[in-house]
Amino acid sequence: MSDAKILVLNGPNLNLLGQREPTVYGHATLADLEALCHATAAAQGAEVECRQSNHEGVLVDWIQEAGVRHRAGQLAGVVFNAGAYTHTSVALHDAIKGSAVPVIEVHISNVHAREAFRHHSYLSPAAAGIVVGFGFDGYALAIDGLLRKARSANV
Ligand code: DQA
Repeated sequence: MSDAKILVLNGPNLNLLGQREPTVYGHATLADLEALCHATAAAQGAEVECRQSNHEGVLVDWIQEAGVRHRAGQLAGVVFNAGAYTHTSVALHDAIKGSAVPVIEVHISNVHAREAFRHHSYLSPAAAGIVVGFGFDGYALAIDGLLRKARSANV
């Protein structure tokens, strides 16, 4: 399959990066984050498509779409920061399992060093990998990891 394409999904409130709790999430914006993802993928001869939604059902639809594209050999996988839905959404857990697309769960902050309600993730048991607490660089690590996984599966 082609491993050249990765979908980067950001969930609720991540459109507010730059103005939202800068002591936790920093001063850079979602556009800055997406530029980092594009540059990281391009450096490896790959490509990312970036989307953000505040709506759980839209994120479910996009994971299902990613599953179809993965099965068709058009998508290596998904880098996914589900924001607060991480801690609440059985629907996103089921979408990841049901679509069987490799998903790398990412969190900008170290959720385990924060409030107790952020310690549990419904996504982690369904994820192919998890990157937590590296700031925006976590997305670059996740893109690299997904490409390494996809490329090693192809040899
Ligand atoms: C987050 C952590 C979540 O607990 C929070 O609800 C977010 C962002 C992170 O990237 O650190 O919205 O996923």
